Amino acid sequence: MKILRTISDCKQWRAQVSLEKSNHSSPTIGFVPTMGALHIGHESLIKTSRKENDFTVLSIFVNPTQFNNPDDLKNYPSTIEKDLEMAEKNGVNAVFIPESIDQLYPDQYRFKVSESEFSRELCGAHRPGHFDGVLTVVMKLFNLINPTRAYFGEKDHQQLTLIKDMVNSFFLPLEIVACPTVRETSGLAMSSRNTRLSTAELALAPKLFETIKQIKNKEQAIKKLNDMGFLVDYLEDQTHFENDRPKMRRYVAATLGKVRLIDNVEI
Ligand code: PAJ
Repeated sequence: MKILRTISDCKQWRAQVSLEKSNHSSPTIGFVPTMGALHIGHESLIKTSRKENDFTVLSIFVNPTQFNNPDDLKNYPSTIEKDLEMAEKNGVNAVFIPESIDQLYPDQYRFKVSESEFSRELCGAHRPGHFDGVLTVVMKLFNLINPTRAYFGEKDHQQLTLIKDMVNSFFLPLEIVACPTVRETSGLAMSSRNTRLSTAELALAPKLFETIKQIKNKEQAIKKLNDMGFLVDYLEDQTHFENDRPKMRRYVAATLGKVRLIDNVEI
């Protein structure tokens, strides 16, 4: 497994891979962008990419431009050794871990990709600038890796939707593959941030998904969550086109102790 630390490492690896032939055509590259602290949710993306492509690239970069809260950035978990073990075990071919922020932001974030509608709703309304940071870093990574397919989790459904829209809007030559949310047996969506929950919070956290699934009335669901000790940022039902079909989905974000949890369910 190759570790790529700089932009030139990436370009070199990418150029070398394109010379390899697969069934007399160019090899396919699957790309899984992450911020590390990998768990089974991330692993499912890697496994899908491995099945569908000749090569799989993983990136691990805690992208500062998508954090609007400095404490959240400072406390973001890091388990790099374990992450590399997981990557290796799953047959990842290359891991891009930029050695500095400047590698990805030589422009000091003067240039950005922004979206003016959906990115300002839901998480975007509560985390100003968050999706500009996400879209910008994902665009940079796509340009560097030049993947055939890129894998994103439905856990972050708003992010997935915006990335698909960006790919269509800029005619980017790759396919976005949506992967189902991986949950604990309790129903809690796996998240790197779950490690920051106390034992008591961890026992309560599964109620988030249970409540948004079970209580149809939005106001009642919000009240129930707030009564249980969550601080609800938003709980909204929205319809979006997914694979050309309208789908109604319920989106939620709520803080438990110091941790902000997000989830969504098709309704
Ligand atoms: P991160 O939170 O590390 O997530 C990386 C990818 O893993 C995302 O596509 C996310 O949706 C997916 N993922 C996380 N938890 C999951 C779960 N329980 N089940 C299925 N997939 C899950 O999302 C980001 O990083 C960043 O915003 C990034 C796209 C890397 C840009 O910086």
